[in-house]
Parts: sequence; structure tokens; C-alpha cells
Amino acid sequence: MKKFYITTPIYYPSDNLHIGHTYTTVAADTLKRFKRAQGYDAYLVTGSDEHGQKILQKAQENGMKPKEYIDGIVEDIKKLWRMLDISYDEFIRTTDEAHERSVQKVFEKLYEQGDIYKSKYEGLYCTPCEAFWAESQLDDGKCPDCGRDVHLTDEEAYFFRLSKYRDRIIELYKNNPEFVQPDSRRNEMLNNFLKEGLEDLCVSRTSFDWGIRVPFDSKHIVYVWIDALLCYITALGYGSKDDSKFKKYWPADVHLVGKEIVRFHTIIWPAVLMALDIELPKKVFGHGWILFEEDKMSKSKGNVIYPEPLIELYGIDAFKYFLLREFSFGRDGSFSREKFLQRLNSDLANDLGNLVSRTITMVEKYNEGLLPSPDKEEEIDKSLIKIAIDAAKKVEDNMDRLNYSQALEEIWKLIRRTNKYIDETTPWILIKEDKDRLNTVLYNLVESIRIVSILINPFMENTSKLILDQLGLEPEVNWEDAKEWGLMKAGVKVKRGDVLFPRLDIEKELVRHNEANEKLIEERLERQRRKEKESVEEQFITIDDFAKIKFKVAEVVEAKEHPKADKLLILQLKVGNERRQVVAGIKKYYKPEELVGKKVVIVANLKPIKLRGEESNGMILAAEKDGELTLLSTLEDIDSGAIIS
Ligand code: ME8
Ligand code: MG
Repeated sequence: MKKFYITTPIYYPSDNLHIGHTYTTVAADTLKRFKRAQGYDAYLVTGSDEHGQKILQKAQENGMKPKEYIDGIVEDIKKLWRMLDISYDEFIRTTDEAHERSVQKVFEKLYEQGDIYKSKYEGLYCTPCEAFWAESQLDDGKCPDCGRDVHLTDEEAYFFRLSKYRDRIIELYKNNPEFVQPDSRRNEMLNNFLKEGLEDLCVSRTSFDWGIRVPFDSKHIVYVWIDALLCYITALGYGSKDDSKFKKYWPADVHLVGKEIVRFHTIIWPAVLMALDIELPKKVFGHGWILFEEDKMSKSKGNVIYPEPLIELYGIDAFKYFLLREFSFGRDGSFSREKFLQRLNSDLANDLGNLVSRTITMVEKYNEGLLPSPDKEEEIDKSLIKIAIDAAKKVEDNMDRLNYSQALEEIWKLIRRTNKYIDETTPWILIKEDKDRLNTVLYNLVESIRIVSILINPFMENTSKLILDQLGLEPEVNWEDAKEWGLMKAGVKVKRGDVLFPRLDIEKELVRHNEANEKLIEERLERQRRKEKESVEEQFITIDDFAKIKFKVAEVVEAKEHPKADKLLILQLKVGNERRQVVAGIKKYYKPEELVGKKVVIVANLKPIKLRGEESNGMILAAEKDGELTLLSTLEDIDSGAIIS
């Protein structure tokens, strides 16, 4: 059996997923089902990308340890994939031990062969995107990907010799235009990144430690993108004792990704694979974004559409159908609930639902539910039959190009043509005038619906099965049977089932959706509050713990900027009779001269350390929220050296 290996990205479990996130996974799952229907041994990998500063910060904001925070979100992600019946074969987590070991092995191998080397990094870093940028790449001083602030970092780091692979990557694109799809994304990569020449890539971090350790230099952790990209092979057992799946399924037939991460998948990833001497994936497809009324969905804008309420109210099939039909896969599209509900009404309730219920009703009414044999064929039948038996091929052609929307449109052409066939042949008149002709018409209608039920199977399996059941057929489908006319056996008993898609009153549905959405958000908030409470309780300390810390009042007698750091001030403090120096990260908030003469609160018995070469003996207390900061002091004036207890 021929294999077909598909991946989705490895998702950040930083927040609950919105419908944009489900887009990649629904597309990947549908492709897997389609390939399986065509007889491939299709394999689908998804997972969660759990390391890095962004996730660490998220966990901290929620007052939790990273793993504890992530585990909750990963559960929600898996629950969502179950809810959507995503048929993945492997869910890889970057915190899986086997993955961590393989990443370390790869890092070590690349270091030993000289593809990774140690140097120093100074640059601008965007934490939410986990990406470094050159000054010239910034957009108005902000991250060109997400528009947020970048900050200067300076650290000793390991580098991957990306520059060395530039020519081979350009060559790859030239010889293999299918490698990056759609074409526009390939041109973007060539013009925006490859043309100017590639710089080596910083692949380790020391400023935080939530990640996989560099095995031979444990101060450093591996850059999240190297960690995450390797999932595509570690999920198959690459680098472990049992790499049989890697041997069987690699190279990937297609990596499905959103447009903002095409760069990582079509430049960094092939270069890493080249360095490892591993075969390259056959295709990376960068799909567009789902916007909310032209705007990017984000929690802070409050315009996030969560998938769960839509799935609960309207079912998996309607949800998936809308995503794949409404938006053209390569391009951005805009979501609105009105459009969603309208499409359910027009395409699902009117076109598909009506066709099935009208047809079954007529067979029941005119022929006691028994499928008649066809008899008198007419010219008009030929055009229906041709559209029906050609449809599968058209769906295949479109799916080969990942053109989901057009693939569905080809199926709906047949559905609409069949509905029109009812109006043209007028069975309600034939029952009175020409029973032989009626038999043929009823047979053709049922036969056409049989083909439809096969064609929609990879896209909407539940609906497909419900229709097959109404036609008195087994729930298993064989894709090739969609290419043949006349497979229905006369005499089969059809039976009416529940309405497939009820017609919706849009105004009422908007209200119902609001309610469901608010309920979900409230439930999640409640869970969050519960967790926060639990973790506060866990964090209780005893009076003895507290007594270990000595707080004192200190007076600032001198303050100046740190010569080698852009966030630090160096303060000389008077603490009773004692003098001491403290370094504090408050330059953004206070001018040195403002501080002189002020009384502050310090932790007096903190072990002294050096910050960028300057001794810091103690810590100044400050209150901080949402980017505002103020130093702590006493309510009334009191001499320095006063003990706080
Ligand atoms: O990027 N419309 O993960 P992620 C369409 N961890 N697709 C969207 C979307 C939207 N509004 N919002 C997100 C990462 N996506 C990395 C991947 S792979 C080795 C590491 C898509 O959780 C996005 O484009 O930010 C991506 O394909 C997927 O959701 C996961 O994004
Ligand atoms: Mg993202």
C-alpha cells in the first residue's frame, strides 16, 4: 500500500484554540480521510509545542508552573480534536522524553559536524513569536509578524550555519516548484529572505530555562523552533530505538501550515534536514488566515470565535463544511456567524438536505419505499449521469492541489443538478401519466445521491453515513464506486431518517450562539479561578519561612545609570549606619536624580550577586502591574535601618 504522511503544525498550548487554529487540523484530517478513501496508508501527526519563553510567561501570568499550566490546555486541545473527530495517528508533545532525547542527539550531531557553532548574539527578539529580527526587518520598530514590541537581547549562544544552505534551498525551489505552495508563498520566501542572503540562525537561549537542554552545555536550551520542527520526525521515532515508522512514512508528503510560519518550514526546516542528510518533505502548503470581520482574531481584541459552541450547536459536519467551503485554502478569508448560518441554510439544508428528503419521500410515496428498476431513458438523464460519474475525478484533481473549496463545489454542482432534475422531470406528474418513466427518474435520483454520499465521505463522514442508511446501504464506502453509474440494486428498501440539516432562523441562532459562547467562557474562567486558588493554597509559607527574610528601610543617597546595561540603575543606600550598593532594573521608571533622598524598602539579607559587573547587595521592593511600576516606601517617615516585620 502506498503511504501518505501529513502533518499539522505542533500547536502552542498558550491559550485555548480558536476556529483559525482548527482550520489547519480540519484540512489535514480531511486530506487524510480523502487519501485513505483513495487506498493510501495515510498517517497524520499533530501535537503541542510546549517550550519557550512565551509559554513560560503565560504560565507565570496564571501563577502556575509551566507544565501544570500546559497540561490543562493540552487536555482542552485533545478534547477539541476528539470533538471534531480528528483522526490523528500520533499526538506528539515537545515535553515527551523520547522527543527531548532525540532533539539533544540531533543538536550534538550538528555541533560535532560543525553545522552548529558557539558565538555571541546581540539582537532584537520578539517573545510571542520566539523570533529574532534585524533592525531593517522591523515594522515601525515592532515585530513584522505580530506587531508587538521587540526587545534587545545579548547573550552567548549557539548558531546553526543556515547561510551555508542558501544556494541549495534556492536550487530546491527551482527544481521542485511543488515544494512551497501556493506559488505566491514561494516568491515571498525568495524575495523577502533568500535573495538578500541568509544569516546564521541563533539556535540556543540562556535568558530562561524552559526548554530542552543543550546536552554538552547545560546553561543553554535549544531554540523552540528547532525543538518543534523536529517533531515531524521524532513523532515517527526518528532517533529512538524503534524508528520503523520513520522508515515507513518519511518523507512527509505534505506539511500543512499557516502562512505566518511558512518561513520556518521552507527555509530553516529543509536546511536542518540537509545538514542531517535526511530526505526533504515533498510539499509545504501555507494556507491563509481566517480573520474575524477583516481583523486578526485575538483574545485582547475580544473577537475570538471558539469552535466548541459552533460544533455543539450545529455539529462537526456543518462546522467542517463551512471552513473548507467558505475559504479558499491559500488565501485569507473573513469569518462571520451570519455567513456561517446562511451557508448552512443554503448549501446544507436547502441543497443537500432537501434533495435527500424529497427523493426518499417520493420513493416511499410512489413505490412503497422500494427502489424501482430504471426503464425509459431520456436525453436529460445523460447529462445528469455524466456530471455524476465525472465528479469524483474533479474532486481528486482539486484535492491534489489542496483546493478544498472547489472540490466541495464540484460535489455541490452534482447536488444542485440533481435537485434541478427533479423539477425538470416532475415525478408528481409522472405518477399519474407515465409510471415507467417515473421508475427511471426515481432510480436516477437515488443513484445520484449514492454517489454524493461517497463523495462527501472524506469531508462529512456522519452525514455520509446517515444518507447511506436512508438508502439502505452499508456505512462503508469505496471511493471508486463513485465513478460508476448503476450500482444501486433495484428492490432495495429506502427509509426516511431525521432531517439532516434543519433550516435555521438566523436571528434566533445568533442569540443561541451568544449564550453558548458566554457559557463556555464562564466555565473556563471558573476553572481558571479554581486553579489559581489551589495554587495559592499550595504556596502558603509558615511564619518561620517568613522570619528568614529581613526587610529594612533604606535611604537612597546616590543613583546612577549602569554603564553596561540599559535597564539597570546602580543605587548607593544608607541602611542605618551601614552603606551598601544595590542594582535595580528600574531605569525605565525612575530618573537617578528623582531617587536621591527617597526612603525605600529592601530585602537586606539576600546573598550578594554581580549584575553586569556591578555588585548588588540586597533587593529593592517594587509593585508592578501591566507595565506600571512603583517603589515601596513607608506610610510615615522613619529613619533608615528600621526593621520591617
Ligand atoms: O505556529 N487562521 O503554533 P500556533 C488560520 N507552534 N490559521 C490560523 C489562525 C487563523 N486565524 N490562527 C492560527 C505555531 N492559525 C507553532 C508551530 S510547527 C513545527 C510549530 C494556525 O499554535 C497557524 O497558522 O501559533 C498554524 O498553522 C496553527 O494554527 C498553529 O499555530
Ligand atoms: Mg501562531
